[in-house]
Amino acid sequence: MSTILGIESSCDDTSAAVWKDGKIVSNVVVSQEIHQKWGGVIPEAASRNHLQNIAPVVKEAMAQAGCDFTELSAIAFTKGPGLMGPLLVGGQFAKGLAQSLNIPLLGVNHMKAHILAHLIEDPKPDFPFLCLTVSGGHTQLVWVRSSVEMDVLGETLDDAAGEAFDKMAKLLGLPYPGGPHLQKLAVNGNPKAFSFTIPQTPGLQFSFSGLKTQVMVFLQKQGPGFLSKNAADFAASIQFTIVEILMRKLKKALVETQAKRIALAGGVSANGPLRLAFQELAKHQHCEAYIPAFQYCTDNAGMIACAGFELWKSGVFEDLSCSSEPRLKF
Ligand code: KG4
Ligand code: ZN
Repeated sequence: MSTILGIESSCDDTSAAVWKDGKIVSNVVVSQEIHQKWGGVIPEAASRNHLQNIAPVVKEAMAQAGCDFTELSAIAFTKGPGLMGPLLVGGQFAKGLAQSLNIPLLGVNHMKAHILAHLIEDPKPDFPFLCLTVSGGHTQLVWVRSSVEMDVLGETLDDAAGEAFDKMAKLLGLPYPGGPHLQKLAVNGNPKAFSFTIPQTPGLQFSFSGLKTQVMVFLQKQGPGFLSKNAADFAASIQFTIVEILMRKLKKALVETQAKRIALAGGVSANGPLRLAFQELAKHQHCEAYIPAFQYCTDNAGMIACAGFELWKSGVFEDLSCSSEPRLKF
């Protein structure tokens, strides 16, 4: 059996988790709150925060797992995609630890890890399955043939679904990250109160930037008291439109692939109305629906450790050597 330490630092969450004998035994996530005052992630500030957080977060994950560093079989880290500085902090920490323990280093793709979060807990989907991955940086429809073979069928041409939630929440004056705040505000709102145009994108591609512009222009045309009277209805209508855009393309992909199983992954899959629409679509199309537990939807190292285990089984390791350039010659 194997024990794998996972490290995630692609954006503004510093996280470490331990995968032991086929399950996650600890998953510690420290979210950086400093970005709230700027209304978005500042990469340099995120890097510095990761530097401060990473050693205590790793120690805490190991302690919660009741695991000694000598027991580790390998270390998995987020190789990308993500913010360069934050990725470097996690990557260099993981590499140094793997070198000092003389164990393999596993470089995990963050988007594949969101999908493989489905393998952490039961019920797990059998392969192949169709996955809609919706995060702050990506929106993708992926045909998952196995834990290592995946084909991107379609993705966003501009903003990601999470980014759309966050940017429109900002227009409503909500704090960062806006997705969960917008959902909360929309709870008592009428989703049909305002209607927005659904973009006509080709094939299985998505687009959210037009919706963002529509919302911005609409707000600019309203009087000063508009939001104080209509905030809940407005938020519910925006949320309804984002969910509708996602569901229309998922349904199209489902028909094209004849998938028997559909899965939802990434931070936006924490959204209540999206989860509901996803379950309803599956029921209507007679296929099985899978959504990971809430703590494995948003960024977390549990999914990195789990995806790392798949790489470890395939023997796909990172280079541990330290290449140093010879002295500069003048
Ligand atoms: O996967 P994730 O944690 O980080 C990235 O890899 O980007 O996704 C973060 C995104 C943010 O845009 C956040 O606003 C969104 O997920 N999100 C939500 C909800 N919870 C998180 N969006 C809508 N409703 C939610 N409940
Ligand atoms: Zn993510």
